[in-house]
Amino acid sequence: MTAPRRRSGTHASVPQPAEPSRGAIRCMFGMIPHTYELANHVLTLGMDVRWRRAAARAAVRGDEKVCLDVCTGTGEMAFLLRRLVPSSCSVIGVDFSHRMLRQAIRARGGTPMAWTCAALPALPFPSGIADLATVSFATRNLRLSRESLAEAFAEIRRVLRPGGRLVVLETSQPRHRLVRQLFHLYVRLAVHPLGALVSGTSSPYAYLARTILRFPHASDLAAVMHDAGFGPIEFRLLLGGVVAVHLAHRGERGDAPDPEGSPATG
Ligand SMILES: C[S@@+](CC[C@H](N)C(=O)[O-])C[C@H]1O[C@@H](n2cnc3c(N)ncnc32)[C@H](O)[C@@H]1O
Repeated sequence: MTAPRRRSGTHASVPQPAEPSRGAIRCMFGMIPHTYELANHVLTLGMDVRWRRAAARAAVRGDEKVCLDVCTGTGEMAFLLRRLVPSSCSVIGVDFSHRMLRQAIRARGGTPMAWTCAALPALPFPSGIADLATVSFATRNLRLSRESLAEAFAEIRRVLRPGGRLVVLETSQPRHRLVRQLFHLYVRLAVHPLGALVSGTSSPYAYLARTILRFPHASDLAAVMHDAGFGPIEFRLLLGGVVAVHLAHRGERGDAPDPEGSPATG
């Protein structure tokens, strides 16, 4: 694993597609809430469950008072956090899709958690309220440009208290050429048709396949977090680098990001 390179502009080596609008992305997620979890389990052969567990374990320290699961979808990560954090801690799932949130409440409404409908990059919380924020399999949806992603991370940083933590679980690009080629072959050949088959709808899974192929390597994602003011940042690669878990700290002092910052480690 390598330290991130700081870059300006769009993700280097990532061709920039015509991005769907935020409204179009919300519509896509509104089409799939009932089959969303099943499709993920099928497409990852159930490994998404293990990956979320690994991220939740990396995230929780046990002294949290407020945790936000941003882009919570059907609330799987929020639910895992709820089981790991102290019972006095508030766990809040945030998403901009009413339909995904309705499915979260249907599936996990019996658990003491709160749900908020809101869109990044504007969270309806006071600055410094949260000890921990998680984002799982959603940074790809926060628009593919480096600037829009950094803006979303900066907003998450705003709501974290000094010393608070951000944990991001996301697909990455395997460095090993053969592994990357096999991964891309699988995404090209299987993700769209299998997702469409399970969900009964095509466009969200065509979009998913496109975003996975275009998303940057974990070290580039760490560099975006760094530009948004996080540091230190560490990441761990899973399944040969197909997926990465990032742990980023808000820093104990002040509000202004360190212009040089500290390097991330893999
Ligand atoms: C691929 S799902 C991930 C859901 C869940 N975190 C998981 O681990 O499966 C992405 C979620 O992010 C939400 N989302 C996408 N862009 C968003 C934004 N700008 N603000 C809030 N939620 C957003 C979508 O509605 C969707 O529920």
